[in-house]
Amino acid sequence: MKPPLIRVEALHVHFNGLRVLNGLDMEVREGEIFVIIGPSGVGKSVLLKNLIGLLRPASGRIFLGDAEVTAMAERDLNVLRENVGMVFQGSALLNSLSALDNVALPLRERHKMPEDQIVRRCKEKLALVGLDGAESKLPAELSGGMKKRVAIARVLAIEPKLILYDEPTVGLDPILAEGVDGLILELKRNIGVTSLIVTHDLDSAFLLADRVAMLHEGRFHFVGTPDECRRSDNPVVRRFTQRGKK
Ligand SMILES: Nc1ncnc2c1ncn2[C@@H]1O[C@H](COP(=O)(O)OP(=O)(O)O)[C@@H](O)[C@H]1O
Ligand SMILES: [Mg+2]
Repeated sequence: MKPPLIRVEALHVHFNGLRVLNGLDMEVREGEIFVIIGPSGVGKSVLLKNLIGLLRPASGRIFLGDAEVTAMAERDLNVLRENVGMVFQGSALLNSLSALDNVALPLRERHKMPEDQIVRRCKEKLALVGLDGAESKLPAELSGGMKKRVAIARVLAIEPKLILYDEPTVGLDPILAEGVDGLILELKRNIGVTSLIVTHDLDSAFLLADRVAMLHEGRFHFVGTPDECRRSDNPVVRRFTQRGKK
C-alpha cells in the first residue's frame, strides 16, 4: 500500500490553557476524500491551519508526503502552501477583482508564469467548476454557491495534489450545497485529487466521504466508512449523528 499523503502523530494544540487538539492521530490516503465531522468550536479549522503551518502545535508531528510540516521554516512553508490548495470557509475572494482575476491571483503573485498561460489556465479552471462565461463578474454579482466555485477554481489553478476544504457547504442553501458537493466528487473522479474536508454538515459528509472521522475533545473518536459511521454504537458518534432526529 502507498504511504499516506497526510500523517499526523500525537498533535497537541492549546491556546492559553485551552486544550483544542489533544493527541490527535490521522492518516489520509492518496486519492481519497477524508471528511472530519464535529460540532462548531471543536478544533476543525485549527487542525487545517496546523496542516499548512499557519498555526504551530505545542507538540506532535505532521507530514505531507515525505515533508515534515512541523519541522519546516517559514520560507519552506510558503513553498508548501503553493502546492496545497486550501478553500477557506468564507471563500475569501477580493471584492474589487473579477472572478478571473481572483482565480489568477495566486498564479500572478507566486508562480512565475507568462500572462497568456495564466489566463488560459484560469479560464479552464472556471469552466471546470461550471463558471464559463462568468470570468468578468465581480464577487458581488455572484451567488454564494458561485463564490464558493470561484474559490475552488482558484485552488485548482495551482494544480494541487491535495485540497483542504473548511466547511465548503456552510451558509449555502441545500441546492447550492448539493452543487458544491457534486463538484468535489467530480474533482476526485476526474483529476484524482486527494481531499480533506472539515464540516458539521452530516449529509454532505456521508455523501462525499471515503472515510469519516469524528473529532471530539481534541482527537478522533471514530474513523471509518460512512456506513460504519451510521452503524457505530460509539456514544459520541451517536450523539452527533442522531441530533435533530428525535
Ligand atoms: N488563533 C486562536 N487563538 C486563540 N484561540 C483560538 C484560535 N483559533 C481557534 N481558537 C479556539 O479554538 C477552538 C476551536 O476553534 P476552531 O478550530 O475554529 O473550531 P471549528 O471546529 O468550529 O472550526 C475554539 O474554542 C476557538 O475559540
Ligand atoms: Mg471552523
